[in-house]
Amino acid sequence: MSSRIPGFYRLCLDERRRRVAQAAGVDPVALSALDSGGLDQSAADGMIENVIGRYALPLGVALNFRVDGIDYLVPMVIEEPSVVAAASNAARMVRACGGFHAEASAPVMIGQIQLCDVADPDRALVELAAAEGEVLARARRVVPGLVARGGGPVGLEARVLSRPGSPDGGMIVVHLLIDCCDAMGANIVNSVSEAVADFLAEVAGGRVGLRILSNLCVHRMVTVRAEVSEAELADDDLDGAAAADAVASASRFAELDPYRAATHNKGIMNGVDAVLLATGNDWRGAEAGAHAFAAQGGGYRPLATWRRSPTGLTGELSLPLAVGTVGGALHVHAGARLALAILAASSARELAKVAGAAGLASNLAALRALAGSGIQRGHMALHARLVARAAGATGDMVDRVASEIAALGDVKPERAREILTRLRVELDAGPVSLLIE
Ligand code: MEV
Repeated sequence: MSSRIPGFYRLCLDERRRRVAQAAGVDPVALSALDSGGLDQSAADGMIENVIGRYALPLGVALNFRVDGIDYLVPMVIEEPSVVAAASNAARMVRACGGFHAEASAPVMIGQIQLCDVADPDRALVELAAAEGEVLARARRVVPGLVARGGGPVGLEARVLSRPGSPDGGMIVVHLLIDCCDAMGANIVNSVSEAVADFLAEVAGGRVGLRILSNLCVHRMVTVRAEVSEAELADDDLDGAAAADAVASASRFAELDPYRAATHNKGIMNGVDAVLLATGNDWRGAEAGAHAFAAQGGGYRPLATWRRSPTGLTGELSLPLAVGTVGGALHVHAGARLALAILAASSARELAKVAGAAGLASNLAALRALAGSGIQRGHMALHARLVARAAGATGDMVDRVASEIAALGDVKPERAREILTRLRVELDAGPVSLLIE
């Protein structure tokens, strides 16, 4: 399967579906589930409370992705124009230099158990370490199915948060480490944490507080690396060496300034979240984890950095990322299952690598655009298409109206309607004017 489909964006929607189904080896009929947003009314009604309908967003496919030598069609759900095109474009540049290289650690999540009123926190840490075997044995009994699949509780850590005599009293937190295999793991981790909390409190000599997973899942990291050559970075406005220098300088800007780092990371999460949303994963959890990780150590740092290499740039992204290919919304959301089938990731770790690659690609695309003429030109071209459609243009008319309003620099619905009316009149008058000529 190749993720290169030249001219894909020019095809009509039905043809795009056909090509994606063909490339992904998915039954084309299955894609008709997307007509209803991938979610039928009764499934939606069972998913959350007080349902009054469904809310659709576009599902696009980013092309050109190669991660660890494997080609992927990357499903992305997002409301923002340019993101899918930009990620595809950056993936094409990276592909020319060998593609993305990724590592994902074992899918180990943290369940936090807060213990309060601990009279002797230091002694509690010693007692908890001694009881680790017993705690893990009890925890494993809660999730026999997960243990049978090769996962389950794998470790225990504990820290003192405050000492007796301080306003918070003696407080410790126990981290129960659980390998969640291909599940995101929130339900697993919360169930196990609740089940062993009383025993932990007994061992530590304290009172149970909260029992809940941490979204700062530092044991479940994904790291993605990429190289891009000067030749790939060059365009009409900027030669390759200057573009590489500018991207490296943009990376330093984010490393030196938290205000810039926030926007830099937003660009990364454009890619990551869009893949998570498409595949039915908890993107809020990923956001919380990513930003907490970026802030570890005091300052707020960029999640990805770019450095000059002799031939271009090397980039690296690291973030905690908890995703699942089983459970959660995938039980009920046919669209999410379909997106996962298109992506064809056979494990949560593989999905995390591709989502990370989408994040690094989005970052590269944003920095390359910002380093050159800026992002507004591309944004405006896409925005112009939205405005043209909103004004009633369909088929070929969308591009004709969009290019006129973009060229006029007047991307407004009134102007689009005016141009559409004129073009329709011209179209109707077409054969007549030909006759006159
Ligand atoms: C817009 O959605 C994302 C960017 O602002 C990211 C960036 O500035 O790096 C373009």
